[in-house]
Amino acid sequence: MAANKISDRIYSVGVQNPDLRVFDIVMATKYGTSYNSYIVKGEEVALIEASHADFEGVYEENIRQVVDPAKIKYVILNHTEPDHSGALKDILRLCPEATVLASAVALNYLKNIVNEPFNSRPVKDGEVLDLGGVTLNFTTAPLLHWPDSIFTYCPEEKTLFSCDVFGSHYSSDKTFDKDIADVDGYKEAFKGYYDAIFGPFKPFVVAGMAKIAKYPFETVCPSHGPVLTKEGLLPYVLDSYRAWSKPVRNAVKTVPVFYCSAYGCTAKLAAAIVDGVKEVIPDANCEAYDLIKNDMAVMREKLNSSDAFAVGSPTLNADAVPPVWDLLAGIDAINIRKRPVAVFGSFGWSGEAVPNLVSRLTSLKTAVVGEGFKVCFVPTDADLEAAKEYGKQLAASIK
Ligand code: FEO
Repeated sequence: MAANKISDRIYSVGVQNPDLRVFDIVMATKYGTSYNSYIVKGEEVALIEASHADFEGVYEENIRQVVDPAKIKYVILNHTEPDHSGALKDILRLCPEATVLASAVALNYLKNIVNEPFNSRPVKDGEVLDLGGVTLNFTTAPLLHWPDSIFTYCPEEKTLFSCDVFGSHYSSDKTFDKDIADVDGYKEAFKGYYDAIFGPFKPFVVAGMAKIAKYPFETVCPSHGPVLTKEGLLPYVLDSYRAWSKPVRNAVKTVPVFYCSAYGCTAKLAAAIVDGVKEVIPDANCEAYDLIKNDMAVMREKLNSSDAFAVGSPTLNADAVPPVWDLLAGIDAINIRKRPVAVFGSFGWSGEAVPNLVSRLTSLKTAVVGEGFKVCFVPTDADLEAAKEYGKQLAASIK
């Protein structure tokens, strides 16, 4: 898509990638994505975001439709993930006198992304840049979703450049939200994006939205997806972020017990652990879930919203089995810290599954109960009683 005018002083010059089906290796992108970038023109010119390196050619063409790149005085990076910083090195060759403005943390990252000297200046929270006839205000937004993130606000155009916040992996030949035909598709992409990118950072979303509440913005230019307007989807987007980011407390202690079991031995341990948990907390929401028979996305959600959890695996090829690792691959590493966890499993030969899982969960800073619990082959009545005791320890460790 070519460059497009957003307002008298703002132009969209980013690029579309409608064919992308996986973003950052792990995220499905059914509707493709866009790498948005914007030019703000006063007496001086600022470029906001720097697009993906793979699209540098079309990106440069889009910029040239609006301004001679040599006239760019500032390149502002709201954060430095390479989908927005990848083309920076090439762009700076077109405007070698430009100064890169970003948070101090971002400039530190950029040293190892650009890998050659460039002009730069860190911006502080509340700092204002005067471009002559138009200004830009900077607001730090830590962990939205990187440590280096900032928002940039243009008061003269009531426009917020929101970094990845309020974004969506939704490619469209329409620049503005109000022109999108497939609104349901957009909403699906928007929710998936929020869950994957901002789900782990909900307290920071709440804090970030409080910080920008002072700005009477009517247009939001995110780093991905359509430009959002108050007449279009912006009210929906803001309401959704508020609703989805509200802290949730479980009405009763919730302790899912996940397991895989080839011959029923680890399954018996799972049932005994459930009994142990329920003996200590009779009204606990505590059930055993066979990972082979349940939807993995649902299991991951149960794990991340738990008060404590248990995970059990037999040993196969000197390790825990793949579905168990798959479950842990979806763990919310930010919010899982200090959560009580029980690790268990039956094994035949060598029994590495339990220590390997304990090692991983310890590195995630969860509170693993003891050293895990493992049994060789078929659990005896005494083993099941010990597993129940282990479940009681797990329940007792919930604060
Ligand atoms: Fe779209 Fe965090 O980069």
